Amino acid sequence: MDDLREKYIRLIAEAGDEAALEDLRVQAVGKKGEISLRMRELGRMTAEERQVAGPALNALKDEINAALAAKKAALADAALDERLRTEWLDVTLPGRPRRMGTIHPISQVTEEVTAIFADMGFAVAEGPQIESDWYNFDALNIPGHHPARAEMDTFYTTRAEEDDRPPHVLRTHTSPVQIRTMQAQGAPLRVIAPGRVYRADYDQTHTPMFHQVEGLAIDRDISMANLKWCLEEFVKAFFEVDAVELRFRASHFPFTEPSAEVDIRCSWQDGTLKIGEGDDWLEILGSGMVHPKVLQAGDIDPEQWQGFAFGMGIDRIAMLKYGIPDLRAFFDSDLRWLRHYGFAGLDVPTLHGGLSR
Ligand code: PHE
Repeated sequence: MDDLREKYIRLIAEAGDEAALEDLRVQAVGKKGEISLRMRELGRMTAEERQVAGPALNALKDEINAALAAKKAALADAALDERLRTEWLDVTLPGRPRRMGTIHPISQVTEEVTAIFADMGFAVAEGPQIESDWYNFDALNIPGHHPARAEMDTFYTTRAEEDDRPPHVLRTHTSPVQIRTMQAQGAPLRVIAPGRVYRADYDQTHTPMFHQVEGLAIDRDISMANLKWCLEEFVKAFFEVDAVELRFRASHFPFTEPSAEVDIRCSWQDGTLKIGEGDDWLEILGSGMVHPKVLQAGDIDPEQWQGFAFGMGIDRIAMLKYGIPDLRAFFDSDLRWLRHYGFAGLDVPTLHGGLSR
């Protein structure tokens, strides 16, 4: 029995892997293993012999099983150590910067505007870019003969030859979203509607596609004072300055009465624009009290409700805030321009985190 013990303890210690270990287990304590066969012989022994050999064989079997289990654990440990050694990596090495795209200034500014107005209780509304002429013009109190239709350099779609309905247009402003939102939500309401608009025009300050954000607030007693406060709050937050001076200039839009264009006080110093000081004024938006006919077109009773509306050029305020000189470059998709003026993808503008950082 001592020979058996010595042999198996040595073989187990020498086993190089789990398969070799399993072979040894079968050889020693398997059904037909050496130790199992010895145990079978117990039956042919005398009672006295059995009393000595039985416990000794059992103890040997236990010893070998324990040695097998210990060796198995040691092999597993060694395998893990080996794996950890080969898969080692230095987590203190600097990361490899991955070239990601940037957020376009228009998207950034749209997010900034949305964050500011959301804080004042404005939800975001949307409308189609291909719009019926009723929503784009008639409902906004711009009848067929009105010069504003021509002034807007409208892009028209074409109809089939036998179809004599008026053609759809590419919306020339975000104002049709006023009508759609009034119809869908009724009064009171408070929304902004950022989006693309189209006019046939192209030079340093005009592109055939550009962006506006419409504002609309309707309630029982909304006034020009509310409009003024909202716009002042907006401009302070957007340009990240404590004080700004706005100038409301009487103007005319068919869909507001009275109407005002709003300028912001600024100065030019060495070709860069400074907001909030100086002797210059820069126009940033059109606005006014919603015309009763417009409320009617939106199925809202002008005897009970009134409100203000404004339309602001997103591209324009983006150029002002970030000092971007040429509007056309916005839409050239020049990677160098996008890397220069673009924003990091994970810097989402919020009022608490800072709008532009
Ligand atoms: N829709 C006007 C434009 O595009 C702007 C505007 C909107 C003016 C709302 C007044 C009220 O010029």
